[in-house]
Amino acid sequence: MDLLITLDNHSPLPLHQQIYEEVRQAILCGKLPPGQRIPSTRQMAKALGVSRSTVTQSYEQLLSEGYLETVIGSGTYICTQLPDDLFDSQPVESIEKNNSAKIKFSEYGMNLLQTKNVPILNEKQLEISFRYGRPALNKFPIKLWKKLLDKYCNTSLEWLDYSTEPLGYKPLREAIAIYISRVRGINCEPEQVLITNGTQQALDLIIRLLIEPGNIIALEEPGYVSARLIFQAYGAKLLPIAVDESGLIVNKLVHSLEKENIRLVYITPSHQFPTGAILSLPRRLELLNWASQTGSLIIEDDYDSEYRYGDRPIPALQGLDNHNSVLYVGTFSKVLFPSLRIGYLVIPKNLVNIFARAKWLSDRHLPILEQQVLTDFIAEGHLERHIRKMRSLYDYRRQVLVKALKFHFGESVEILGDKAGLHVMVRLNTNMSDNEIIQGAAKLGVGITSASSQYLNPNIYGEFIFGYGELDEEQLVTGVERLTQIIKG
Ligand SMILES: Cc1ncc(COP(=O)(O)O)c(C=O)c1O
Repeated sequence: MDLLITLDNHSPLPLHQQIYEEVRQAILCGKLPPGQRIPSTRQMAKALGVSRSTVTQSYEQLLSEGYLETVIGSGTYICTQLPDDLFDSQPVESIEKNNSAKIKFSEYGMNLLQTKNVPILNEKQLEISFRYGRPALNKFPIKLWKKLLDKYCNTSLEWLDYSTEPLGYKPLREAIAIYISRVRGINCEPEQVLITNGTQQALDLIIRLLIEPGNIIALEEPGYVSARLIFQAYGAKLLPIAVDESGLIVNKLVHSLEKENIRLVYITPSHQFPTGAILSLPRRLELLNWASQTGSLIIEDDYDSEYRYGDRPIPALQGLDNHNSVLYVGTFSKVLFPSLRIGYLVIPKNLVNIFARAKWLSDRHLPILEQQVLTDFIAEGHLERHIRKMRSLYDYRRQVLVKALKFHFGESVEILGDKAGLHVMVRLNTNMSDNEIIQGAAKLGVGITSASSQYLNPNIYGEFIFGYGELDEEQLVTGVERLTQIIKG
């Protein structure tokens, strides 16, 4: 295999680092495909005119980061299953090198070029994938959805035109306001509901409107990586706050050195992502009290609170707030399907106008037809019926998964979190690295995700997120059984 590597003797980067970067880039942009054998250190050293130890140093780094794997007696290969936190972004230098017309990027653009994991490309389809956050798509009532689509397609042409409502289709905002006030205890008028392109757009708009580069955002550690990536792209300074079995340790936040300067707190109180903890009531009250005193705002991401098995759901933080401190974010990605790309942001009244303007400038509005269909789906009771059905299915799937994990791994496994959601976080007591486990599992057709990418400062290993929403009983049991072939204590 030939690979063009250009080394620059005048570069401040040492030669082994240059080789590392070039091979890494070749892997990430697909020039070196998974499974491809690469030259031995001896061949590479000869081809580049450098010492073998220089090449060995760069290969070792690539091996430890999970880009390469060695097969004893055969050689060194590009990993067949690249770990989660590999991504397709190139460092600024290499993009500029490839760009004859040296483009000047904004600060946002520069940050984005240097941000790992955008987009997150960790999802090779394997036979059994414990992907997180996926509902059981094969249980979605497609016929019913189609019937509603037909109805709106045929009765009026309104859905073909621009909407004049920057906040979103009014009947949908009304239906959502009624629904979330009843099931989540949210205090709002339909005029405070902004229909967004999922949680992701809600977060993007919030940060665009409220954060300057260098402003401080506190967030859970570990926490939802896709939220963190937005904050980082806008240049926010991140303040990670640890979580325990009762959720965010609010005490650490309110006593942090930065406590007076925190602009925003991003939190998943109903089902902490990824640990699954539920923020206790005393902590909720302490957080709201602190926010009202400091003027900080709280982003409440309520992404899967519909799925709670056993106990009654705890009402949302927003419903306890008397000081307009909470921006509440909900989504239909888990209760319906992710490609619908419909979520909602409940905005304090004094901020509605500015959010409506930002949304309008950003993308005008979402497709009207899907909003019309979703309105009926909610108003006619289909949504809650579907959620009820799915709740008992996921409850069962969770039990199957937990039982299989405990049966096969016994004392070596700790299952975190409350009985809720579509995933569990699991701590495995093993000497193997996360990459060894992921790669070993992939060879057996099983996909699992390390929780390390959900940490801002990853220094904990052996934690995995197991999504179970889309796997049936047999897949769950077989998937865990196969893991026993590779995970050793
Ligand atoms: C914490 C959290 N928030 C929100 C979402 C959903 O995002 P979206 O509404 O953009 O699909 C997910 C999906 O996995 C999530 O894990």
